[in-house]
Amino acid sequence: MLDFLVVVSLIALAIGQGSGHSSLANVDYSQYVNPLIGSEGPMPGQAFGGGDIFVGGAVPFGVVKVGIDTYETNLTLSTINGGYTPQGLVTGVSMMHESGTGGPPKYGIVHQMPLTAIESPINILDNSTYWQNRSGNDTARVGYFSTNLANGITISLSGARHSGIIQYDYPSNEKHVLVDVSHYLPAYGDPDSQEFLGCEIELQDDGKQYTGYGISFISAQKACDYKDNEITSWNVNHTVQAAVDEWNTDVFSKIRVPLGNAEDETNIILMYSSLYFVHLMPSDRTGENPLWESGEPSWDDFYTCWDVFRNTVSLYHLLQPSYYEGMIRALIDTWRYEGYMPDGRSGNYNGLTQGGSNADNILADAYVKGLKGNINWTAGYQAIVKEGLGALYDWIPLGYLSSDGSAISLSRSVEYALNDFSLYQVAQVGAPVDAQKHRNRSAQWQNNWPHNATSVDTTPIFTGFLAPRLANGVFNLSNYNPALCSECEWSAFSYEATPFEYSFVVPHDLETLINFMGGTANFESRLDYIFMPNTSQQNLDFATPYLYNYINKQYKSVERSRALANQYFVDSDYGVPGNSDASALNSWLIRQMLGIYPIVTQPIYLLESPWFSDINMTINDKATLRIIAHNLDNSNSFYVQSVQINGQPWDKNWFEHTDVLVDGDTIEFYLSSKQTMWETGEVPPSPGHGGKPNLNGTYPMPDTISVR
Ligand SMILES: *[C@@H]1O[C@H](CO)[C@@H](O)[C@H](O)[C@H]1NC(C)=O
Ligand SMILES: *[C@@H]1O[C@H](CO)[C@@H](O)[C@H](O)[C@H]1NC(C)=O
Ligand SMILES: *[C@@H]1O[C@H](CO)[C@@H](O)[C@H](O)[C@H]1NC(C)=O
Ligand SMILES: *[C@@H]1O[C@H](CO)[C@@H](O)[C@H](O)[C@H]1NC(C)=O
Ligand SMILES: *[C@@H]1O[C@H](CO)[C@@H](O)[C@H](O)[C@H]1NC(C)=O
Ligand SMILES: *[C@@H]1O[C@H](CO)[C@@H](O)[C@H](O)[C@H]1NC(C)=O
Ligand SMILES: *[C@@H]1O[C@H](CO)[C@@H](O)[C@H](O)[C@H]1NC(C)=O
Ligand SMILES: *[C@@H]1O[C@H](CO)[C@@H](O)[C@H](O)[C@H]1NC(C)=O
Ligand SMILES: *[C@@H]1O[C@H](CO)[C@@H](O)[C@H](O)[C@H]1NC(C)=O
Ligand SMILES: *[C@@H]1O[C@H](CO)[C@@H](O)[C@H](O)[C@H]1NC(C)=O
Ligand SMILES: *[C@@H]1O[C@H](CO)[C@@H](O)[C@H](O)[C@H]1NC(C)=O
Ligand SMILES: *[C@@H]1O[C@H](CO)[C@@H](O)[C@H](O)[C@H]1NC(C)=O
Repeated sequence: MLDFLVVVSLIALAIGQGSGHSSLANVDYSQYVNPLIGSEGPMPGQAFGGGDIFVGGAVPFGVVKVGIDTYETNLTLSTINGGYTPQGLVTGVSMMHESGTGGPPKYGIVHQMPLTAIESPINILDNSTYWQNRSGNDTARVGYFSTNLANGITISLSGARHSGIIQYDYPSNEKHVLVDVSHYLPAYGDPDSQEFLGCEIELQDDGKQYTGYGISFISAQKACDYKDNEITSWNVNHTVQAAVDEWNTDVFSKIRVPLGNAEDETNIILMYSSLYFVHLMPSDRTGENPLWESGEPSWDDFYTCWDVFRNTVSLYHLLQPSYYEGMIRALIDTWRYEGYMPDGRSGNYNGLTQGGSNADNILADAYVKGLKGNINWTAGYQAIVKEGLGALYDWIPLGYLSSDGSAISLSRSVEYALNDFSLYQVAQVGAPVDAQKHRNRSAQWQNNWPHNATSVDTTPIFTGFLAPRLANGVFNLSNYNPALCSECEWSAFSYEATPFEYSFVVPHDLETLINFMGGTANFESRLDYIFMPNTSQQNLDFATPYLYNYINKQYKSVERSRALANQYFVDSDYGVPGNSDASALNSWLIRQMLGIYPIVTQPIYLLESPWFSDINMTINDKATLRIIAHNLDNSNSFYVQSVQINGQPWDKNWFEHTDVLVDGDTIEFYLSSKQTMWETGEVPPSPGHGGKPNLNGTYPMPDTISVR
């Protein structure tokens, strides 16, 4: 799928021009970005357990992400998803990477390796004879990366949208560039590893230029045109400056916080670094789709919708309206030509589905917030209705997912329910009967909820959980502990988190959920419980810390979410708590710092507590949302006492998209160190409430409970 050329300078360059200066953005926010946050895990020098991020030269949503590829001697600790590792041996520089993904690495294609010699013991057919340690420290800035190889070569590089520039400075007169067209990032023994299929390379101009391709492509001519248009000078700094300008103008300057206060320095770095990572993926491949020609935008590297549908993609709605519209159109176009929207997609290929069909949630969120543009919503609805759900054979006839018929039945049960809620949201106007059908199905998680299932070894004991149910209708509660999920992967009851935690994940109907948990007091103590140390074996859903808003105890949401953010997000190489999930973690932090948390698939946001005294956000390319935090002190004065929206007193701890996020305006928070139940208005809505779960009548109904 590559159709770009690398611009290579084979000799050390000495063009004496200074770098250009930005005229588009007044402030160079890029200086606050630390592109290495997430490059390391808990073991110093090892990427293992870190953010799996890409480090190198790239522009927002660019096709090309130029960076080094590495080899880790200890394969157990080999995490090369982004190509880069802090201390791995350098195997070359390549043009395409992912950032923040799990699973086997992808891309690492269109490769080069600079060499100082090609005679024995170096064998250019054996990478282990030429891969290189590094000396000194790498340099990473927005749009720029450089490293020193042990053999004396310095690599400096930058990336444009479809092309890149790499400079090699050699220590002596012998200079070679090895082009290994068969190179890609390996995943040792993983059945989902990439494979080399074939390639072609042609040398031109006495070896000064080459053209070729790794899988499929549009044309070498198009690649040359990109290179000629995007990289007009042999000075790497010019491409760096162009990238910095683009990042400042199109990304960083859209959220403006006060820059003068030294005590805010770390938070400023966390904000702009998070914005940077949030814009590395997905990739805008418009005009680069080798599979079909439709005139619609083309996007790849949704890796995965499962991770990014909540905070990441919905942030693009506000900050990047035209890119966002392109993504939605591309998702719909993928349905049109391939039959399904992706849950994860990379390399022009719809990958595995981890639970529900989360492109449904992405489209529903865009729809309920009124996105129109050139989106064909008739097609959009058809794309959502064509549910890519793998266990409809249970979900429709039984009315739930059975533990003997469907793997990860409990996590999929709440995910399918939300997908059906998404369908309900989009169907309401044009297809009201379908809408009711899907609202009924959105309640089917209730059929996986035995009211007498209990927690094990907790104080107090909690009653009512998602629990395994056999296809014959009987709940299997023998030895069931909702706080455990064994390996918590593909064959467990729930995927990557325990049933205890998934039992909180019904964002469209908290009203029923709170009733099922025994009312507000029991709901609150169950939430309190999971934030106590060592009660949570697995991950929390992104929204769980904010659920106190649903019982009008917003101060506890603020307390819990700030504690988590402060514990896990720092300005250092080990600065995100594990794989960033294509920046889902970074976008969670941005929401946390803005003090407004979206409940996606509904046009509503929860009010929390901002981390800056004044924030101006350019939204929808035309309006400004201003967020003011009076009396903020991040070390102690951050509890809300009252809120005003557009100058009016506001008694609810949530607001609607149209209140401030279309035409802009102002949200003012009045803060102090006092924990206060300041909100007196309605709790956030539960629009899925009222759906009646279908249950195959031949099976026993679940127990009923008395509700509050
Ligand atoms: C080194 O080359 C071998 C043979 O082509 C290949 O299988 C392996 O994946 C390469 N290793 C790295 C880290 O690129
Ligand atoms: C690789 O790393 C693992 C985990 O730290 C360790 O147990 C193992 O001993 C290491 N292997 C080698 C060969 O160093
Ligand atoms: C890289 O450095 C390590 C540690 O100094 C050394 O053990 C190893 O042999 C070096 N590898 C290569 C290929 O130079
Ligand atoms: C590399 O960075 C570390 C940590 O910032 C620093 O202590 C060290 O001096 C640096 N090394 C070189 C050669 O600059
Ligand atoms: C590129 O910029 C760096 C500093 O950012 C400077 O040291 C270097 O001389 C510049 N190179 C050229 C060729 O302009
Ligand atoms: C936000 O915009 C207002 C109105 O233009 C301005 O007074 C204020 O200084 C801005 N604050 C920041 C942090 O940009
Ligand atoms: C919108 O999509 C529908 C359904 O796929 C299709 O029939 C219709 O022609 C499309 N409209 C336009 C303007 O492309
Ligand atoms: C109830 O479940 C059985 C067994 O799966 C199935 O044959 C039957 O069609 C279902 N009934 C309805 C109304 O869905
Ligand atoms: C939704 O469920 C209710 C109660 O079971 C039922 O009366 C209604 O027909 C269902 N609606 C649809 C469209 O399936
Ligand atoms: C839960 O209720 C069901 C149905 O009433 C019953 O068969 C089962 O024994 C109960 N299980 C427990 C653990 O109480
Ligand atoms: C019920 O659950 C237990 C514990 O997980 C398991 O060992 C048993 O096989 C299950 N029974 C059925 C019929 O699936
Ligand atoms: C939590 O677990 C960790 C690791 O097992 C242990 O070191 C720590 O003391 C525990 N904390 C509490 C409060 O039990």
